[in-house]
Amino acid sequence: MKTQGAIIGAGPSGLLLGRLLDLQGIANIIIEAKSPEYVLSRIRAGVLEQGTTDLLRTAQGSDRMDREGLVHEGFALSFAGDSRRIDLKKYSGGKSVLGYGQTEVTKDLMDARIASGATQFYEAEQVTLHDIESDHPVVRFVHQGTQQRIECEYIAGCDGFHGVSRQSIPSDRIQLFERVYPFGWLGILSRTPPISHELIYSHHERGFALCSMRSDNLSRYYVQCSLDDRVEDWSDQRFWDELCCRLPAESTRQLVTGASIEKSIAPLRSFVAEPMQFGRLFLVGDAAHIVPPTGAKGLNLAASDVYTLYHLLRLRYQDRRHDVLAQYSSLCLRRIWKAERFSWWMTSLLHKFSDDPFGRKIQEAELAYYTSSEAGLSTIAENYVGLPYEPIPN
Ligand code: APR
Ligand code: PHB
Repeated sequence: MKTQGAIIGAGPSGLLLGRLLDLQGIANIIIEAKSPEYVLSRIRAGVLEQGTTDLLRTAQGSDRMDREGLVHEGFALSFAGDSRRIDLKKYSGGKSVLGYGQTEVTKDLMDARIASGATQFYEAEQVTLHDIESDHPVVRFVHQGTQQRIECEYIAGCDGFHGVSRQSIPSDRIQLFERVYPFGWLGILSRTPPISHELIYSHHERGFALCSMRSDNLSRYYVQCSLDDRVEDWSDQRFWDELCCRLPAESTRQLVTGASIEKSIAPLRSFVAEPMQFGRLFLVGDAAHIVPPTGAKGLNLAASDVYTLYHLLRLRYQDRRHDVLAQYSSLCLRRIWKAERFSWWMTSLLHKFSDDPFGRKIQEAELAYYTSSEAGLSTIAENYVGLPYEPIPN
């Protein structure tokens, strides 16, 4: 088989890139290791920046998002028993974010791919990349027992943190930057009305808590937990008790509890691989970088990588600008490091790192300062709604 772009991975990065290229007549094949059902069973964050929603509209995969997404013009930061609203609209020059689950984004893009009839392979085994430094890289894999070979012009490595793409780059040609945090997030999904129509991020001496939602009757809550904890250690009752304890009293009165329909623990990590390209291979999304979920930047950063690669590939194929792709990594990394900084900062500010009372007082002073200063509020708001995309060279 031959194509212009081979896309490894059918998470949001791979599906969005594939869809955008399809609409421009740039041929591509998606190769995914898991089944569609497995891909859709993963529950991730659900806050979309305007740049992400604009790109999904360009991809013509946004009708349901525009109907069902919940516009958030602010969120609450709570600490020391008190709660302050961050007015995103006021402090970001009129912007907001959209609450719409990543699983739903993925489903909409999967449906669009099926409707377009574009080639894709799910449950691909033993995926390997070859001749990446040549003009004709090759992807090999086994599908339903048959060996497949795809010859292409470019490979987009959209296969997440554990994928094969980044591992195909020789270790002396890539530099890895990493911070692992000494705690995790225990998340639950419950068919209950959300505690509030806006998100609540809460700093508490027992640890961080977050209240989010997927719809008027589907809530997503998190509490900071120990990395040694197992899901079985956390009954629903223990979870609700802990959440209540970490939220300000005026909020807990609105909390409706119920049986969890999903419960999982996720570790927190900051990670960046540089450069994000090697020969004809381009790393996109989680394959190149991870942020802790505290600023909800993971999917949004993946979307800004897709935006950059999509526009550079258009310049390459439609304007025959063979030179521009060399800029992919440097264009992406400028925005990525700023989002890494913000996610690290939100994480550092809101979590319990130790029993050190001095550290906690400093966190509370920092929260009090940022939420009482116009400059501080603007800094939080403009980062939360998403910093501008780097301009594409012309
Ligand atoms: N071959 C083919 N596919 C693979 C391979 C492989 N060797 N390894 C992993 N994959 C697939 C995974 O099964 C998954 O479906 O690649 C996909 C990667 O998807 P995600 O992990 O969701 O990554 P990405 O598409 O970049 O999504 C952006 O940012 O912070 C996050 O929550 C956010 O998951 C979101 C991500
Ligand atoms: C979520 O809705 O799952 C969510 C929202 C905001 C975050 C992280 C996760 O910062």
